[in-house]
Amino acid sequence: MLKIVLDGTPSLREASKEVELPLSDKDRETMKKMLDYLVKSQDPAFLEKHPNVRSGVGLAAPQIGINRRMLVVYFLDDPENNHYTTYALANPRIVASSIKRAYLQGGEGCLSVPKGHEGYVYRHYKVTVSAVDGLTGNPVLIKERGYGAIVLQHEIDHLDGILFYDRIDKKDPFKELPGAVAI
Ligand code: CO
Repeated sequence: MLKIVLDGTPSLREASKEVELPLSDKDRETMKKMLDYLVKSQDPAFLEKHPNVRSGVGLAAPQIGINRRMLVVYFLDDPENNHYTTYALANPRIVASSIKRAYLQGGEGCLSVPKGHEGYVYRHYKVTVSAVDGLTGNPVLIKERGYGAIVLQHEIDHLDGILFYDRIDKKDPFKELPGAVAI
């Protein structure tokens, strides 16, 4: 079982180092383990047995104590077809982003941040991310919008030591940004 590094740990605030390419078996294994953790964290039977585990849709390597640029994402995007958006990425980089913003109406959460932080986190509505696929080792170019784009940006922030609440306006946490898409 992976141990999640919690807010207050200095390494969570450090910028992570690039992953060396081609991907090593060890790095691939790490991403597999991270993805496996997310999948399990959404399984009700698993959660019942492990009450301390919280459900997550994204996880970045610094959150398991590895300050290298790797992340995984896993969330249900199409309940009717039971389809999940799944990413395991090394060296992800945002290469294009929309001016249009988006935010989660219920605010963001994070496996490393047990304490709630109320307020809107404005992010790009659309992003294009270049990365190396953590499972195949091939370069990939990903386009996401809405929820998927928000999750990717949240996880990439972890690689730069940024936590979601850093982006909440402390003076006006629920400030309305004209034109931003509520999700
Ligand atoms: Co997080």
